[in-house]
Amino acid sequence: GMERTFAMIKPDGVRRGLTPEILARIQKKGYRVVGLKQMLIPREVAENHYGEHRERPFFGELVDFITGGPVVAIALEGENAITGWRAMMGATNPANAAPGTVRADFATTTGENVTHGSDSPESAARELALFFKDGELLA
Ligand code: CMP
Repeated sequence: GMERTFAMIKPDGVRRGLTPEILARIQKKGYRVVGLKQMLIPREVAENHYGEHRERPFFGELVDFITGGPVVAIALEGENAITGWRAMMGATNPANAAPGTVRADFATTTGENVTHGSDSPESAARELALFFKDGELLA
């Protein structure tokens, strides 16, 4: 069915000028961009966003990285957009990402893997609400 998901171009992707290429892939796929903004993520928002990883050894590094430069926050709408965007990104570790995916094409490390995508309908709802106010998304 029709879904909305939260996508993000991480600081490494923005810094490297990959924003236009990634947005082009999203739009060529046929997803509708219903929200889009470049922003610095406040530390408390980053800690909330990655809350499920709070006990992991890499949590501090992850929060430092994601708050270390501007990101592009994107709300996408489309048929099966949650799993579809994750398929376009490829595996979290770029070494395992299928050819033609964003991470296979543009990333080399798990820590700096260019993009994020919600992993479930629950995560999508939570993350969209964390990054966008109601009035910021298209109807
Ligand atoms: P993402 O899918 O955005 O959500 C969790 C992030 O944690 C993941 O992308 C990776 O970038 C990061 N991550 C996962 N495992 C590791 C790791 N072993 N070292 C550093 N970062 C990691």
